[in-house]
Amino acid sequence: MKLSGQAKLAGVIGYPVAHSLSPRLHGYWLEYYGIDGAYIPMTVKPQDLAECLRILPKLGFRGCNLTVPHKEAAVALMDEVEEHARRIGAVNTVIIEQDGRLFGRNTDGLGFLENILVNAPAWLPPSGPVTVIGAGGAARAILVALMDAGVPEIRLVNRTAEKAEKLSQELGADVIRVWPWQKRSEALEDITLLVNSTTLGMNGQPPLDLSLDRLPHKAVVNDIVYAPLKTPLLAAAVARGHTVVDGLGMLLYQAVPGFFAWFGQEPEVTDRLRQRVLEGLQ
Ligand code: ATR
Repeated sequence: MKLSGQAKLAGVIGYPVAHSLSPRLHGYWLEYYGIDGAYIPMTVKPQDLAECLRILPKLGFRGCNLTVPHKEAAVALMDEVEEHARRIGAVNTVIIEQDGRLFGRNTDGLGFLENILVNAPAWLPPSGPVTVIGAGGAARAILVALMDAGVPEIRLVNRTAEKAEKLSQELGADVIRVWPWQKRSEALEDITLLVNSTTLGMNGQPPLDLSLDRLPHKAVVNDIVYAPLKTPLLAAAVARGHTVVDGLGMLLYQAVPGFFAWFGQEPEVTDRLRQRVLEGLQ
């Protein structure tokens, strides 16, 4: 690391933050591009978030990422929030402007979409229905990204149906149809893309219990879980010959706009970066 007295500063705020792969990810780019800058993990309790965000400009920070549990609370703490982040109801990237104002963005949906477009280039958003399993925080960003990309119908399936109904109403989208959890395998008929946005399949969690029998053979399967990289869902999809996209790319691509804004270099997502970040999971 090359750090001068003029080093550009950014970091990630979470509680806890020790699990975050973002320092490793941004650290790799800083080193690769030889940038005079640092990206640090910052453990901040929810009750201290407002105070800490206000102090960042005074400390000379260019911005930060926000992770669990701060993304939703941060919306009200920004001076300005981009429309896209407001619709998602969460901020994951803060850019500090020259005058110290906090500008909130959400790049999770962009990261999700870019990951699919790069790794499954034959998938065309307007070409048919998409099924999203899960209605938590991650699903919100994914749904907005899919809507904006022109997906004609999104089937939303969640164990707790009320949460899916509430989410669909909040997003005010005619294209979202809520399907009952019991009918999740039927919800795979005629779709072009299946997304698991739940925590099922993650290390220590049960797998997603879903029969792929009705999934069209051309459909792409994406899991946002990346630990393990090959979840039981992706393994089952590979066995049936589907194109699969793992969850690590979403993490990598969501980081691109922040890095560019803070450090002035558009970074590239490469295999080497993937390897470096994966080492952090072991
Ligand atoms: P995130 O912010 O990562 O999306 P979250 O907001 O806690 O995390 O959402 C977790 C998602 O996984 C939810 O859709 C949740 O379903 P419920 O709304 O019914 O809780 C889903 N999930 C977690 N454990 C589950 C399980 N055992 N069976 C089915 N769905 C599960």
